[in-house]
Amino acid sequence: MGTAKGIQERAERNVGLLIVLIVAAAAVGGLVQIVPLFFQLSTTQPIDGLRPYNALQLAGRDVYVREGCYNCHSQMIRPFRAETERYGHYSVAGEFVYDRPFQWGSKRTGPDLHRVGGRYSDEWHRVHLLNPRDVVPESIMPGYPWLAQASIDPALVQRKMRVLQRLGHPYAAADIEQAPAMVQGKTEMDAMIAYLQGLGTTLKRR
Ligand code: HEC
Repeated sequence: MGTAKGIQERAERNVGLLIVLIVAAAAVGGLVQIVPLFFQLSTTQPIDGLRPYNALQLAGRDVYVREGCYNCHSQMIRPFRAETERYGHYSVAGEFVYDRPFQWGSKRTGPDLHRVGGRYSDEWHRVHLLNPRDVVPESIMPGYPWLAQASIDPALVQRKMRVLQRLGHPYAAADIEQAPAMVQGKTEMDAMIAYLQGLGTTLKRR
């Protein structure tokens, strides 16, 4: 007790020592909680069957980021009954290994989109993205009609896939070879729908 009091008194008189002790205390909290996650397979390994985005989905993902869809939509289903009943299986870390950066988000003006893949037809998404009120009359989501006009740059998608491959995404040479042909003549709308339809589908929905 005497020594604890001694340290406290010295720290209170010596700002330098106080700073060092505060940093040490905060670092223990951070290191103990965060560093083990880097070594846990469940947080760093892809789940069974997870594939990196194909060329069209990858282009769609970039449009999703550019348009700021994450401002209204999360992609992170929490392990609570109210969420799993509505959206399906809760999100697990291994589903996001090929998301750079991930689109978890924290704002839900609209519903979570992590398991939206396969929930609607491509045509539903097309109509919805052009003007959400045509399918959901009370919707406050903005329309994105320009996506149907904008085309995708095939060479750019291929370059992005090369970069991601270098970062460790397991693309085969053929995936990258065929990337330009896959997006040739497609619109940003097609890409967005391909991206949305793939979301959360590797882990089976309950
Ligand atoms: C201003 C907030 C807002 C923005 C920005 C927004 N949304 Fe929405 N979104 C909503 C709301 C509210 C709904 C629920 C009503 C509806 O279905 O239109 C919704 C619904 C959806 C749904 C249907 C989800 C379901 O499970 O029924 C999809 C898919 C979707 N949005 C995709 C997008 C995409 C892609 C973008 C970006 C291009 C986007 N949203 C941007 C608010 C937004």
